[in-house]
Amino acid sequence: MKKGGTKSLRLDGKSIFMAGAGGLGNRIAHGLTDAGARLVLADLDFAAARKVAKSIQQKKGECMAYPMDIMNPAEIRRGMQLVRKRFGRMDVALNGVGINIRKPSLEMTGRDWDKVLDINLKGAFFFAQCAARIFLRQCPRGGKIITLASILSFFGMEDRAAYGASKAGLIGLNRCLAVEWGKYGITVNGISPTFIPTAINRVTLKGAFKARLINRTPLGRLGRPEDLVGPIIFLASEASNFITGQTIPIDGGWLAG
Ligand SMILES: NC(=O)c1ccc[n+]([C@@H]2O[C@H](COP(=O)([O-])OP(=O)(O)OC[C@H]3O[C@@H](n4cnc5c(N)ncnc54)[C@H](O)[C@@H]3O)[C@@H](O)[C@H]2O)c1
Repeated sequence: MKKGGTKSLRLDGKSIFMAGAGGLGNRIAHGLTDAGARLVLADLDFAAARKVAKSIQQKKGECMAYPMDIMNPAEIRRGMQLVRKRFGRMDVALNGVGINIRKPSLEMTGRDWDKVLDINLKGAFFFAQCAARIFLRQCPRGGKIITLASILSFFGMEDRAAYGASKAGLIGLNRCLAVEWGKYGITVNGISPTFIPTAINRVTLKGAFKARLINRTPLGRLGRPEDLVGPIIFLASEASNFITGQTIPIDGGWLAG
């Protein structure tokens, strides 16, 4: 610890397994490596992960792409073992994978429901379980698990029942795992971003709907991927060592209104 008790927000020497190389994952991966972290970046879309890794390597950052389906725990485990093999240990496991199927609830099928809940919530659980098993085998024990929930973890919106349920579920999941694994020195936290233009909402985030979101936001704009970088670095850093079980809204004041 530095003089005066200030813990560093730098991530030099920290090794991170990160899942999700989409619109938010791309910016977060750059932010983490800019802060000094070494990364293995996983995604079902291996080409997307490779593209992000390459752009980080061009800046002399350390990032390696890895193909992974979050529905396959064996692939998650192998990816996390790769972090240990390459960097000696895994300090942080960050899950930024998610999908949405928007439909009126009267038309939602069992298949739609299962797909969203499987990837967003079941996937998050097994991702955390794989991380905890690795953290327990390391010396010193412990590590940080971080999840991307959503502003829709906290309030309802039409046509998003499965997504909202999965993201609200992440809050409960973070709390339960934080309580259960605190004794191992494992922290479990998340962030809940507001609407940020990426592939996941390209179809809907325009016109009257976009105006409605901006009007509802005290800071008067949608989110930007870079809005998430500081909070994620904080949760990955030593500065957040005594925080666990929390899912922090990054919402321009939405939930305050
Ligand atoms: N963009 C927003 O407005 C917003 C707001 C709140 C929360 N989020 C959450 O942030 C996370 C990232 O969202 P984004 O905006 O970057 O979306 P995105 O669609 O750009 O990225 C999602 C990534 O997940 C990957 N993915 C999907 N299924 C997978 C699977 N089975 N295994 C591994 N990877 C898989 C995709 O290939 C994609 O790269 C998601 O959990 C999303 O729910 C996004």
